[in-house]
Amino acid sequence: MIREVRNDRDIREAIEINLKTLPEHYPEFFWRENASLWRDLFLVGEVDNRIVGYSMSRIEIDEGFFKSDIVRRGHVISIAVLPEYRRRGIGTALMTETMKRMKEKYHADEIMLEVRVSNYPAIELYKKLGLMIVRIIPRYYRDGEDAYVMAKPL
Ligand code: COA
Repeated sequence: MIREVRNDRDIREAIEINLKTLPEHYPEFFWRENASLWRDLFLVGEVDNRIVGYSMSRIEIDEGFFKSDIVRRGHVISIAVLPEYRRRGIGTALMTETMKRMKEKYHADEIMLEVRVSNYPAIELYKKLGLMIVRIIPRYYRDGEDAYVMAKPL
């Protein structure tokens, strides 16, 4: 089941999953701020009442990748699923619900995210959902790895 974060416990679970699964971590206030500003874009995936994945996104105003204009853009800041729950469609469900909400609730024109160029599973997931590589940001990550920016019109 995919749902919004409801309380501090949910946020702490998301932080725990992030610590276990990704090298990019954020201070607690950043998670809390996102939960208060963009609660309906901060989602968790539950299996048997256990939170096993999350996605955290927000809306930004920026130059469009697909229109030469200023657009409303949904930005996926972080998404992860616990290793033992992968390949069951939870990442897809988190992304699909996020895109739906970005479009219907915020009238976002596009969705975008950054991903490590070596992160094959994530790149495959995003491609399957129709996101395209629109840019490379050299040395985007702290360890010097490049990022692909992937995006899709909504
Ligand atoms: N190898 C190849 N393709 C993969 C893959 C892998 N290891 N994992 C996912 N995919 C692709 C497949 O096309 C898959 O469809 P299929 O299972 O029918 O073949 C599709 O993505 C959907 O997979 P899904 O089960 O919905 O994704 P998931 O729940 O396993 O979550 C991630 C995907 C990326 C969120 C998960 O691997 C993860 O948490 N990784 C660590 C954190 C991370 O890298 N986050 C992204 C940061 S940008």
